[in-house]
Amino acid sequence: MKVEVVLTEADIAQEFAEAMQARDLPEKFFFWSPRSVQAWVALMAETSLYGGLLDTWRTLAAGAGALARHFPRRLPVISFGAGDGARDRLLMAALKEAGCECAYFPVDASQAMLEVACAGGDDEDFETVGIKADISSPVHLVYAADAAEPSRLFIMSGNTMGSFDPLAQIRYVAQCLRAGDRLIVDGEIYDPEQTMIRRNNAPVRKFISALLSGVGIVGADGEIRFDAKQDERHEGLHLITRYFRAERDISAKVGGEDLDLERGERIGLNFTYTYAPDSFRWLIREQGGLEILEEHRSPDGRFLTAVCAK
Ligand SMILES: C[S@@+](CC[C@H](N)C(=O)[O-])C[C@H]1O[C@@H](n2cnc3c(N)ncnc32)[C@H](O)[C@@H]1O
Repeated sequence: MKVEVVLTEADIAQEFAEAMQARDLPEKFFFWSPRSVQAWVALMAETSLYGGLLDTWRTLAAGAGALARHFPRRLPVISFGAGDGARDRLLMAALKEAGCECAYFPVDASQAMLEVACAGGDDEDFETVGIKADISSPVHLVYAADAAEPSRLFIMSGNTMGSFDPLAQIRYVAQCLRAGDRLIVDGEIYDPEQTMIRRNNAPVRKFISALLSGVGIVGADGEIRFDAKQDERHEGLHLITRYFRAERDISAKVGGEDLDLERGERIGLNFTYTYAPDSFRWLIREQGGLEILEEHRSPDGRFLTAVCAK
């Protein structure tokens, strides 16, 4: 298994300590420990977290012939926030059938997730090099993109963009694209009832608790809460924020040091954006400066996936 490390474990540990001090935890920490990854796998098994998104990828795979014709025989596939890479491999298998020789570059901050994605790529005989990097950093994104020359296929799937500021993130990702490259990116479509129900539930709390218990914060110490908000920068950008609220004074352990939290204090547990369809298109076109070549709405209406070019 080959992994190039841009973001080291020492960097992540340092950032984690700083984020805990700031009481604000970005997305990457939710996938950092093997325990969190186990909880993520359990969450995927217990809930239909991605609804009909797999059907969209089956459709993309069915149309792999046309995509393959666009690229030269050797096709680098660079997946930002690859996770387990299962959907990436579904498409790559179809591209291989259509004559492409895919070289796979899963990019993720989580060593444990990257190992799963790389092992999956190796098992299916794709030339695979994992890149351990922070996809919220424009510098890391460009480094990862430079792993191969254009024309490349970039992927950002599973509403991954929605766990960052999407206005900035789509710009950073778009900066990596050159003529001939393609990007497959998706967004979860906002639903006034279901968007919150899909997050504010026991299996999701269990997933979040895996991170908190790693620093010694247990169930009786407080509560995980969710809020629905609008991002006023543009119509149709909905976000759900999450936070932990201490119900008593707590002493958490971060990197061997005590971190005291007073009753009533909060720790921000990141957020998820969901979109009105037009606001998702606006992000890609106006913020990213990209052209949408194809659009696929998942059969359950939950995800909008766009194939884009510069
Ligand atoms: C919601 S999962 C989606 C995974 C995959 N794309 C899918 O569709 O199944 C988000 C992934 O992004 C990774 N991630 C989160 N923040 C990151 C960051 N700042 N840099 C790199 N990877 C990150 C996580 O480790 C996780 O594997």
